[in-house]
Parts: sequence; structure tokens; C-alpha cells
Amino acid sequence: MCGIVGYIGRQPASEILLEGLRRLEYRGYDSSGIAVRDLDGISIRKKAGRVQELARLVDEQPCPGNLGIGHTRWATHGPATDVNSHPHVGGNGEVILVHNGVIENYATLREQLQALGYVFRSATDTEVIAHLIAHHLEEQARLGKDPEDLQTALDAVELALRRLKGTYGLAILFRDFPELLVAARLGSPLVVGVGKGEYYLASDGSPLVGHTDEVVYLADHEMVLLTTEGMRLIHRDTGARAPSIQTLDQTQHDQDLNGFPHYMLKEIFEQPQTIENAMRGRLDEEEATARFGGLNLTVQQLRRLDRIVLTACGTSWHAGLVGEYLIEEFARIPVEVEYASELRYRNPPLSENTMVFAITQSGETADTLAALRECQRKGHPTLAICNVVGSTIAREADGGIYLHAGAEVGVASTKAFTSQVTVLTLLALHLGRLRHMSHPAGKRIITALRNMPDVIRETLKCNDAVREIAKKYHHITDCLYLGRQYNFPVALEGALKLKEISYIHAEGYPAAEMKHGPIALIDEQTPSVFIVPHGNMYHKVMSNLEEVKARRGPVIAIASQGDKALDNLADDVIYVPEVEDFLQPLVTTIPLQLFSYHMAVLRGCNVDRPRNLAKSVTVE
Ligand code: G6P
Repeated sequence: MCGIVGYIGRQPASEILLEGLRRLEYRGYDSSGIAVRDLDGISIRKKAGRVQELARLVDEQPCPGNLGIGHTRWATHGPATDVNSHPHVGGNGEVILVHNGVIENYATLREQLQALGYVFRSATDTEVIAHLIAHHLEEQARLGKDPEDLQTALDAVELALRRLKGTYGLAILFRDFPELLVAARLGSPLVVGVGKGEYYLASDGSPLVGHTDEVVYLADHEMVLLTTEGMRLIHRDTGARAPSIQTLDQTQHDQDLNGFPHYMLKEIFEQPQTIENAMRGRLDEEEATARFGGLNLTVQQLRRLDRIVLTACGTSWHAGLVGEYLIEEFARIPVEVEYASELRYRNPPLSENTMVFAITQSGETADTLAALRECQRKGHPTLAICNVVGSTIAREADGGIYLHAGAEVGVASTKAFTSQVTVLTLLALHLGRLRHMSHPAGKRIITALRNMPDVIRETLKCNDAVREIAKKYHHITDCLYLGRQYNFPVALEGALKLKEISYIHAEGYPAAEMKHGPIALIDEQTPSVFIVPHGNMYHKVMSNLEEVKARRGPVIAIASQGDKALDNLADDVIYVPEVEDFLQPLVTTIPLQLFSYHMAVLRGCNVDRPRNLAKSVTVE
């Protein structure tokens, strides 16, 4: 995880770096630090805690200069302390760097460097890289290379990187090259923002918003040299390449709270719009199907598919489960939903006509990326459902579908989930119409989908009622979430949301499975959230609900508007608009997102920065 920023230009670097780190805090927020260069040398400020602690330190001890790097950390090696915070210094101060990723062979390298006399100050894997580069700089000098020649520094970096096993995104300053910022990537994302006589560097596009919308994404094994004069991109194996400049797809709106107290709430309320964005230009009324620009597969290839594997982590995995129901129902193609972290080390027998779909908001999740690469290695077409344009998975997949949900800043994923489900519904429709699905059936789905933004707007009106219910329950320690069929993944997602941000133990189950174990947990202190809208499963889930009531378990029901039956049965009811079964996840998820949000706020939790979590998990 971790977030990296860098700047070289004419503006005061520290302000730009601190603002960039604030925007990258979703990637980690254990500790942070900056290094800034001016005529007198390089000043480093670093501190455990949130970026605001660092900003306070920089206020007290300013670090002037127009060139710098910064880092916000999610600890992997070594606890979150001031000394483990980045930047780290190599040798006698020749090299100062920040790192995102994990160096797997750091222990061996550390021993070797210690034997050579290098003194380690931190418990991080990162410090090894700093000393290693310093060591190779020294070696280059010993070999008679000109220490003032830029090439000498580059060779030292290159030699050091070749010795690393693992992943890295690096931003590096050199004591003896006062106008140089070097960045390198293997596995951890980096993007360069191109300004006028200035360059920005970041782990993703968010710190660049408001500065420039021209960006260059680094590929694995690439290194970039930034000076105020220009940029040079060098690939380890293929040498220099001309930078291909792309347009940043984030706006200031994504970065602002727009009057909401938290990003999570803002993003929950954006869902009528983001669901609409996920459908925009993709519904074809005439052919009663959905269309995608970037699948890069022929109709013949799509018709031949005999199996689909959806792979993802966390909330995206839950969206995959909804996708399984949708694709199997609409297109009759067998679907498996695999945790990416499991798929990457399994060797499932995949047929020639198996298509693998990675589902990911960030496009950077390490396990999802590794699973995708593993499937590609075996010759399967891989596609991605992804939100972040230009992210690693979006670039490496053979094709895909963007969510167009805008930046999701809240660590707990909300709008990305409903956009993923929307896109999976379109995909199921598309595949169904290539097979047996009739024109009227396709048309009916399209009509229902078109109504969804309004339906979600209506659903969000439950916010006040949900807040009141949360007031009653926010002291609980355990909670069950129960639903069936399309609402089983929603139960899992509801439970995950509660765990993530309010630290209440919660479990999601298929409602009927409850009697095979979880029912033992039911008592007067353990509420169950039943997702019981009108539809095919209504009566079945109602029976399960009765079973809980019979054991005095409190029940919160998510029910269809006008369902009077629940008034006397459930302790609390949240009413949502009635929709067809296949669209229920989009609707029933909303009150569960709001419930976890209000529970967390009432418990005094930091909603947008939950403990121990990071939005984008770029380590295994
Ligand atoms: C982290 C986040 C989750 C997210 C998961 C997968 O665990 O905290 O909210 O669902 O990663 O992320 P992705 O970006 O691949 O969807």
C-alpha cells in the first residue's frame, strides 16, 4: 500500500507534497513524511500518525525548496513509528527515497549491507533499497565513473533494482544531483503529471487534480528521470521510450466533500449518478442489448464461452457473486467467483473457452493483478471491470469495462460496488442476447435498468430512518446479516461494511443456512438484519425471520415499501422501493451502507480512515 508523491518545478514543494499526501491518505495513514531540497541540502520531516501531524511539524519546522518527495504509510515491515516513516536515507545521505511495495529479500540484503558497514536506523524493508543504491553509487565511483555524470546515478539505481525481489514504486532524491528526481516502478503504480516547466509524481492521479490533466503512466521495469528541463523514460530491457501523454480522468468534484461530513456519505449519495454513468451509452434499445466499446472479443468468441471466472477481493468479490447469479440466469453460462488471492496459487483446469474477468475498483489490488497475470500466462482472455482509468489492471487486461464512477475516496467501497453490479447486469444482458434471450426479455431488462437512478434516489430517502435505527443499536457487539439468492451477496457486503468502519463483529449468511450454525448465536443482544424485499424468495426468508424472532433475536428488516406484514414481526423496518429480483442488490445495499455509516459515526469511529485498512491493497 502506501502513497507516494513528488514534485519538481518552481513552486514551494512542501505545500504540494502535503496536499498530495492528504489525497493519498486512503492508501495508508499510519505515518507520513517528506524530503525537500533547497540550496542548503535536503530537509526531511517525518512523523507517525496522520498527514495532519506531519503538516503541523512542517509548520513548526518549514522546509523550503522546489523539489521534493513524500510518502504516507501503511506499515508492512516495522511498526508505525517516526523512525520507520519514510523517507529513508541511504549511505551517508547520498540517497533519500520513499517506497511503496514489499521487498521480499530484504533480510538477506540487509545482512550483506550491514557486513559492508551500512548502518540501519529503521526496521523497514525500504531502508535496504536506500543503502543499496548508495552502495552502487560508491561502486561506480570506485570503477572510475564520473560521480557528477547523471548516467552514474542511473546505473547505480539500475544495478540496485536488479537485486530486489518483490514490488516497488520509488521516488528518489540524490544529495549530489540537486535538480533530479528519479522514480521507478515494479508492481506498485506511479503516474507523472506533466506541467509547464514542472512535473508531479504520484501513486495515482488524485494528487495531480487541479495541477495538470496531462499524465504519463509508468510501466513495470520503467524508470523516469525528472528535471525542470524535461523527462526521460527508460525501460530496463527496451531502453528509452517517448512518453505517451494521456488525459487524467479525475476532477476537483471527486476530491471535494461538497458539503458532506465524510467521503463515504458523499459517495453513497452519488449512487443515482454513478449508476447512470455506468450505463451511459451502453444500452441499445433497438437491439434490446448492452454494448461495450472495449471488450476486444468477437461475437464468435463470446458465443463460444463455456465458462466465466470472476476474480476479485473484498467488496469487488461480493459484486462478483451478484454477477454469478446474473450471468447464469440471463446467459446460462456457468460462472465461478474466485478470491483472487486463492486463484493466483491454485491451478484450476480452465478450458480454452473460459474467460476470466477481474473486478476491481482501484485496478491495483496486488492479488487481483497476480491472478489476472497467472490466467494470461495460461493463454486465457482476461478482461477487467475497473474504475480507475489507466490503472495497472486496466492496462494489462486484454479488454474491459470501465465503471466511470469517479474517484472513490472513502476506504469502505460503496458507489464502486453498485457500479460493478450495474456493469455486471449489462454484461449478463449482453451475453444473454448473444444466446437464447428474447428481444422482449432484453427490452424489459433495459426498461428496468433505465429506472434505476430514480429508484436509488427514492431509496436514499431512508437515510433519516436508518440513522434513528442506528441510534438504537450502536452499542451492539455482534450482528448477523441474512438474505437469499440475489440478496445473499448483499448480506455479505452489509456485514463487511459494518466490520470495516464500526469494528462490530458481523457475519453474512444465506438466510436458510442460519439454522446450520449461526442460529446458536441468536440472543436478545444479537440483532439480525434480514434482507426481505418482495420477490421470489420473500416467503422463504420470512420463515427464517420467524425462526429468529421465536428465539427472541432482535430483527431489523430491509423490506419493500408497503409491506405491512413486517410491522408486527420485525423490531425495526427500513422500507425500500420494490424492484425485480435481479435489481434488488442495487437497492437493498443502500440502507446497509447507510446503517454501517451511522453506526460508525455514533461510535466515534473515523469513517473515511478505518483502522488497519487501506483502500488499495498493493501488497500480497
Ligand atoms: C481493500 C478495500 C476494499 C476493496 C478491496 C478490493 O480491501 O478496503 O474496500 O473492496 O480492497 O479492492 P479493489 O480496488 O480491487 O476493488
